Amino acid sequence: MALEKQLELGDREERVRKQTAVYVYEAPLRLWHWVTVFCILTLSITGYFIGSPLPSVPGEASDNFLMGYIRFAHFSAGYILAIAFIGRIYWAFVGNNHSRELFIVPVWRAKWWSEVWHEVRWYLFMAKTPKKYIGHNPLGQLAMFCFFVIGNTFMILTGFALYGEGQGAGSWADQMFGWVIPLVGQSQDVHTLHHLGMWYIIIFVMTHVYVAVREDIMSRQSLISTMIGGWRMFKDDKPD
Ligand code: HEM
Ligand code: HEM
Repeated sequence: MALEKQLELGDREERVRKQTAVYVYEAPLRLWHWVTVFCILTLSITGYFIGSPLPSVPGEASDNFLMGYIRFAHFSAGYILAIAFIGRIYWAFVGNNHSRELFIVPVWRAKWWSEVWHEVRWYLFMAKTPKKYIGHNPLGQLAMFCFFVIGNTFMILTGFALYGEGQGAGSWADQMFGWVIPLVGQSQDVHTLHHLGMWYIIIFVMTHVYVAVREDIMSRQSLISTMIGGWRMFKDDKPD
């Protein structure tokens, strides 16, 4: 208050703007988001090299453990990704309303679909004004469910099935996830689908980052800082 007065009375050139801020994403959700980003980055780089290994490295075979390190990093990140995802599901039960948006997509609501359509038009530069949302916008929510929740679950199931194969028959991973391999066909089919799944997720990530930066600039509401500090800032006016 004192600051606003000082700015108004003291320097007429200063622009004072009031913003509405709403606390949206709680700390565990934000932590999970960035841990998942780190894991998917690691899994994609190491996974790419598992699928397309480097040409042979010089020296004695016994002196080199490059593929071993790459696979170790892949499996470690795979464990962290899966455990963090279980934590994220738990948080959907105990967290605030916005923590459930990722999993519960209101496809039964006609109004929600009309808002999805508005977002499609907004992203295609066909709508003039952005709508404001405290949580995810409906199109974002749909994309996050279809690409991320389904994609991530698929990668965890197929990843641990392949891991169980490496661990050997009867290992815990084989007992829990071994059924995936005969369901899909055989091991090579699971490799191929797991590999394709990476590109499915990469397409999501590329679009997601583009949209996050674009919306941060164009939609008059904060996006990236919201996933860092938890607060959504609405410039100009209140959310719809
Ligand atoms: C591997 C990379 C990434 C993945 C898999 C990913 C995944 C996700 C998911 C699943 C959500 C929904 C969060 C929830 O409801 O629990 C989300 C939200 C969000 N992510 Fe990412 N993300 C990635 C990278 C990034 C990066 C690099 C940025 C920043 C430029 C970013 C910015 C955001 C923002 C701003 C939101 C909130 C969007 C909103 O409020 O509607 N993400 N992300
Ligand atoms: C978004 C997450 C993930 C991505 C992008 C990813 C990516 C990849 C890619 C591209 C491959 C090579 C497939 C091929 O061409 O043969 C691979 C292999 C593999 N991944 Fe993943 N992966 C992910 C999650 C996981 C998880 C959660 C696990 C569980 C531990 C896992 C375990 C494995 C195993 C065991 C292999 C085969 C290793 C080998 O044959 O040497 N992955 N992954």
